[in-house]
Amino acid sequence: MPHDTQAINKNRQNLEGLESVWVFGYGSLIFKADFPYIERRAARIDNWQRRFWQGSHDHRGTPEAPGRVLTLVEVPGTTCRGMAYKVTPDVFAHLDHREKNGYLRFETAFHFDDGTEAQGLVYIATEENEAWLGPASEHDIAAHIAKSEGPSGPNDEYVLRLAEALRAMDEDDPHVFMIADYLSQP
Ligand code: SIN
Repeated sequence: MPHDTQAINKNRQNLEGLESVWVFGYGSLIFKADFPYIERRAARIDNWQRRFWQGSHDHRGTPEAPGRVLTLVEVPGTTCRGMAYKVTPDVFAHLDHREKNGYLRFETAFHFDDGTEAQGLVYIATEENEAWLGPASEHDIAAHIAKSEGPSGPNDEYVLRLAEALRAMDEDDPHVFMIADYLSQP
């Protein structure tokens, strides 16, 4: 898979002619919505868990010293709560550019708090992408993040802003909160 996934994503789903599309945010898309949206609602997707296993060359690190950002890994029987945005299809040019460092769009079911459901897209970086870093202990991930920085800012800011947003949504995520706790220690 090439380093830049923009061209692949453009051809993965045909969004032409659609009035709107749902996109699910589980990481920075929760706390940084730098795109226009029609509606924003908390939602959950099933069988996916957040992990700081993806390298960031373009936002929270550099090609020489990648930071660590979130992706989702498949864990049957689990749920992941995040923020769903209803957007017009043209917004995906911006999103594909923002998530170009290894993320692919996947279609999945979104479950809203009121019991309704919708199909939508979620950006996931799989093991096959070149920026993949893979598992490490929460302690080692925090140490890596503490010394990383990129064009979007310090890597620890990503974790701390996300942890704050998840707490505000009542989402318990032990992996994220443990890393945030290590980063908050003096
Ligand atoms: C997301 O937030 O849904 C994707 C990963 C990221 O950009 O942090």
